[in-house]
Amino acid sequence: MPDQEPDLFSNNAPDAATEIARLSAEITRHNQLYYQKAEPEITDREFDLLLRQLIALETAHPELARSDSPTRRVGGAPLEHFVQVRHLQPMMSLDNAFTEGELADFYRRLQKGLGQSDLTVTVEPKIDGVAVSLVYRDGKLERAATRGDGETGDDITENVKTIRTVPLSLPADLAPPLIEFRGEIFMPNEGFAKMNAERDEAGLPAFVNPRNATAGAVKQLDPREVAKRPLDLIVHGFGAIEGLEVPTMSAFFDLIPKLGFRRPALVRHVHTLDDLLQAIRDLDVERHELPFETDGAVVKLDSRASQARLGSTSKAPRWAIAFKYPPEEKATALKAITIQVGRTGVLTPVAELEPVFVSGTTVARATLHNEDEIQRKDVRVGDTVIIMKAGEIIPAVVRVVPEKRPAGAETFDLFAHVGGQCPSCGGPIVKEDGFVAWRCVNFECPAQAVSKIKQFCSRKALDIEAAGNVVAEALVEKGFARTPLDLFELEEEALGALNLGTEEDPRRFGEKNAAKMLEALERAKAAPLHKWLFALGIRHVGESSALELARLHETLADIPGSEVLKLITDAARFEAEQKEISPRNKANPPANDMEKAGRQARFDSLKEEIATRRARIAEFGVTPDVGPVAAASTLAFFTSEAGRKTLARIADLGITPKSTNFAPTPKADAPTGELPLAGTTWVITGTLSQPREHFAERIQTAGGKVSGSISKNTNYLLAGESAGSKLTKAEALGTLILDEAAFDALLASAP
Ligand code: IVH
Repeated sequence: MPDQEPDLFSNNAPDAATEIARLSAEITRHNQLYYQKAEPEITDREFDLLLRQLIALETAHPELARSDSPTRRVGGAPLEHFVQVRHLQPMMSLDNAFTEGELADFYRRLQKGLGQSDLTVTVEPKIDGVAVSLVYRDGKLERAATRGDGETGDDITENVKTIRTVPLSLPADLAPPLIEFRGEIFMPNEGFAKMNAERDEAGLPAFVNPRNATAGAVKQLDPREVAKRPLDLIVHGFGAIEGLEVPTMSAFFDLIPKLGFRRPALVRHVHTLDDLLQAIRDLDVERHELPFETDGAVVKLDSRASQARLGSTSKAPRWAIAFKYPPEEKATALKAITIQVGRTGVLTPVAELEPVFVSGTTVARATLHNEDEIQRKDVRVGDTVIIMKAGEIIPAVVRVVPEKRPAGAETFDLFAHVGGQCPSCGGPIVKEDGFVAWRCVNFECPAQAVSKIKQFCSRKALDIEAAGNVVAEALVEKGFARTPLDLFELEEEALGALNLGTEEDPRRFGEKNAAKMLEALERAKAAPLHKWLFALGIRHVGESSALELARLHETLADIPGSEVLKLITDAARFEAEQKEISPRNKANPPANDMEKAGRQARFDSLKEEIATRRARIAEFGVTPDVGPVAAASTLAFFTSEAGRKTLARIADLGITPKSTNFAPTPKADAPTGELPLAGTTWVITGTLSQPREHFAERIQTAGGKVSGSISKNTNYLLAGESAGSKLTKAEALGTLILDEAAFDALLASAP
């Protein structure tokens, strides 16, 4: 850590330059300690501080920011498209061998081609990722590109810079003037599993395997998004090279870590065909220990001189081959489907399996992701299912074996399966439009305790500063709190003794912190309604929705029976129904004339229902912050059994949050519910300063209707020059006649 804070904003450029160089070197060193050696010397927070200092300095002195700055790891500005770049040497592919016989043929071809029986070949895992080529000129990462068609690929330099195991520059004493590394970008299984779990929780579709997730990440145009993905890179070869002698693959493998990259693990050197076949078999067992996906072994001739003698075909070198292991799939029985409740309330179906050995471990459970996934694969309890490890650590159900389905196996219905209740707390569950996941919406659900407490205590909610993430975890784990409201019943002494560490390495929360936390909780009791609404963590109710809800309601107790929320949800429901039966909905044609007439009647009555509600909603001046989704979610929360209990408990605690911005009618300058021309019918005639559509649109926007002919129902005639029969008829009927100026004045004077 630096002893002194740098003066970021002085124009003392030489000092800033020195500081930037010093911080860059320091951060790069810590990066290597962390990612390459797994021996960090500083905490993540200290690392972040260093990085932030560097970012601040580079922002103040952009002319000093270097292209190999470690700040580039956080991702630069998004690109519009990828630029195509030519590889210095073509990126070849590998021929495949699928059987030991094919591999033996390859080995014999090597022997024959070289005219020698004793050879050294290397055997290494084939990483299941995305191929990449990296050009370093004078030790600096100049460019990274995808394979593309082998000749040219996409320039993904900015994306690759976000991968922390990629050195942005090579050690000066070893760097050749030019080297084109070849490697594989991949996502380690652990990061993949975590990312997918987060996607499951967020109701997003999970990635099928780490390779797909990697390919998706690499293709992102926004490097800041790429920086969030847990990518890694291993170098396994090279293309163009200048100023560096590499006599064997083994020598190159030894050089890789010295240049700052990760190298292939489990590399073997063998000298006979028997040893080669044995190495392939051994690797098939050992590869499952690797923290990433592999789909084969790559066999390479060790001597570069011999490689050169054999050369390449148009697509692949003759001196290397990929041995593909069959993807390990196993059939087993699906005994049951259980439902797990995640930290944010998402219900995830889990396959309970007859234990089976797959890719190195015994698998008894597999994720089924969500109900849509189960229906898509038509998975039923009792089925024989095919299990595969996607990302080696999370097993997945790939498909069912329909021939083996027992009679009477029923389709899976998640809602029915859990009886419409959260399996953790018995609370209500909902599946929102456009989302694949069912969620528990009970505020007091124990499975969600930690995330609910975090939200409740966050700065934007009730601001219980002392209750950070670690404290929330410990409170739940040690049984101090199952719901946020339990915090109000904590006692200072017990709270002070809360162990934030482990059994072996205990760490007390302490009396001082405990007192601070209890004071903050006491203050929170008097916090305004909008803070409380946000603290309750109601789905789709963010800060601005909470504020708007508090403008419309004075207390929590006013919300369950809220007129305005009911108006909003009813109007949305009617609009959906209207859309469904609309003659314009080609997907749902009426079966016959009778149905058509019935629909028309319903359509018209819905139109009225909607109009009256819209007018009333407009009187409240509701902003888009409380739309149908937020309104429905709020009502669902407050009218549920669990919501009622939450309200009662808040009241029992003597807490009665009041709105500090209560004003359920629109402000004077906001548009009123009643539009100025609402309920009026207009006819337009004669020559006006603009086409008639222009005036028709203005009338309609102001709430009026435009008709083609004058009748006794016409309220106004907008008449231009040379108006003819319509003017005469209007005069006869006593209709109000306006010229353009009068029309403009009427609209301008409208409230
Ligand atoms: S050596 C001439 N070694 O597999 C190509 N490739 O299917 C020399 N791959 O294009 C490639 N792990 O993208 C090599 N340990 C490894 C590998 C590996 C994965 C990829 C590479 C190659 C593809 C061929």
